[in-house]
Amino acid sequence: MPPPQPSYTKVTYNATYPAIDPTLPALSTAGKVVVITGASGGIGHAAAGSFAASGAKALILLGRRADALTETVAHVRATNNDVLTHTYIVDLCDSPTVRAVMAAVVQEHGGIDILVHSAGVLAPVQPLLTADPATFLDGYKTTVVGTLSVAQAVVLANGEKHPDVTFVNLTTAGILFPPFPGMGAYVSSKMAAVKLLEAFAAENKGVRLHNVHPGFLKTDMSAQLARTTKLPFEYDDLSLPSNFLVWIVSPEADFLRNKLVFAAWDVEELKARKAEIVGSSERPGSGELWFGFKGFPRYVGGNPLPGTVPPTVDGSERPPAKRSHS
Ligand SMILES: NC(=O)c1ccc[n+]([C@@H]2O[C@H](COP(=O)([O-])OP(=O)(O)OC[C@H]3O[C@@H](n4cnc5c(N)ncnc54)[C@H](OP(=O)(O)O)[C@@H]3O)[C@@H](O)[C@H]2O)c1
Repeated sequence: MPPPQPSYTKVTYNATYPAIDPTLPALSTAGKVVVITGASGGIGHAAAGSFAASGAKALILLGRRADALTETVAHVRATNNDVLTHTYIVDLCDSPTVRAVMAAVVQEHGGIDILVHSAGVLAPVQPLLTADPATFLDGYKTTVVGTLSVAQAVVLANGEKHPDVTFVNLTTAGILFPPFPGMGAYVSSKMAAVKLLEAFAAENKGVRLHNVHPGFLKTDMSAQLARTTKLPFEYDDLSLPSNFLVWIVSPEADFLRNKLVFAAWDVEELKARKAEIVGSSERPGSGELWFGFKGFPRYVGGNPLPGTVPPTVDGSERPPAKRSHS
């Protein structure tokens, strides 16, 4: 039994549940064109099945291993035989090919509505003291350059005719937790990808970005990690994260754009806390589930932000601290 994980919601799940059932009408992706990177991997394969169940018009499956992509197509077919599928063998660091793939998809289907970015690599798990500076950027290349290449390609291919795309980035809770020895290369590259996509979404207003931690799951990547590291695996059933991915792109989860959420969190509690999560546009730094700097900001132009300066005993705001010139 793994130890309980820290959570934002009181209720958490380790298996799928009715509110994220991809066959719910509210979660339908009928008519949508969905691209999945890493569709030859564990979570991407499961996600393809969940989007098929939600009735997507077309699933575009990207990976590097043809045999594994064929298995994903079979999984889609077994779930919903009406979904169009296309597979592409492509290395995401090969930007010209990624752009050609996205352009071909848009030419055939008119636009890409949803992109689930599940491709990822585990950088070597070792103390940073012994990391090889000559190869250190290898993991970063897929995670950062590959992510940029995908984001650019989808927006460029969609063009002005189809500016809106929902981009779901698979990340790790490791970027929030205290440092875990040996994971510095992986975690820092995943953080870089999140900050890169935050900036990309700010520059491209049609991009609705979600960052999702899928959970600690048994896949090829975690098997690789398990060879050197003892980690608790929360669950084997990938339908929890894959169905959650269908929920996160639905209209009811739109308020979670630019946020990071865990697939295990209860979606009903998230919806009930919408106002807290979104925050107020009049109060910089309000809102939750985003990357900030705890305690910042307290003042704008020397004026305390409401609720940020502890009141004095009589309830009035504390006077500003006097400067010392000693
Ligand atoms: N599993 C977990 O416990 C866990 C926890 C937190 C976050 N995540 C994140 O979730 C995502 C999916 O992980 P997973 O567990 O499903 O991993 P996985 O089973 O190892 O699959 C990784 C996928 O990424 C693809 N890929 C890797 N490098 C690529 C490249 N340069 N170009 C194109 N495709 C590339 C692989 O393609 P080929 O196999 O065809 O080469 C494969 O489809 C990753 O971003 C991972 O960081 C996973």
